[in-house]
Amino acid sequence: MNLSTLEDLFKDQLKDLYSAEAQLTKALPRMARAATAPELKRAFEEHLEETEGHVQRLQTLAEQLDIKLGRKKCKGMEGLIEEGKEVLDAGGDGAVIDAALIGAAQKVEHYEISAYGTARTLAEQLGLTNAVRTLQETLDEEEATDEKLTQISEGGVLEAAGAVEEDSDDSNS
Ligand SMILES: [Fe+2]
Repeated sequence: MNLSTLEDLFKDQLKDLYSAEAQLTKALPRMARAATAPELKRAFEEHLEETEGHVQRLQTLAEQLDIKLGRKKCKGMEGLIEEGKEVLDAGGDGAVIDAALIGAAQKVEHYEISAYGTARTLAEQLGLTNAVRTLQETLDEEEATDEKLTQISEGGVLEAAGAVEEDSDDSNS
């Protein structure tokens, strides 16, 4: 890899993101199947649709900027998905597996949020206004997904399934 200019770095980051998103489109359907709570299943299915949109956006952006995406493999996402597979293969309680799926998915979202933030900032520095807007759009959706996952886990997926004890009348806790 040649990193002589910020543009080289920006291109490299786009390729990495493209690989990350493409890998994620394959992992999300499996995560949706593994989820027990309907709310979580739906969140994964919705994020799959969004992720397909993210792939599209990167392709459009690359065409506009005459960048060839494709060959690079995002090793960060590969590792996160590899870890996630341990959850997919796990047996046990559905609600606990849901909590593990949420954890794995949020690691993915945080990785993407970080990577899109970097790419967006590089685009700003390069004066690529359209790229800034496009990358920010995706970044916003990744953040919204992350928040939704937090809400699902806080909203009592586990309590509903009886995996943790209900907070009855212990006012000191
Ligand atoms: Fe994405």
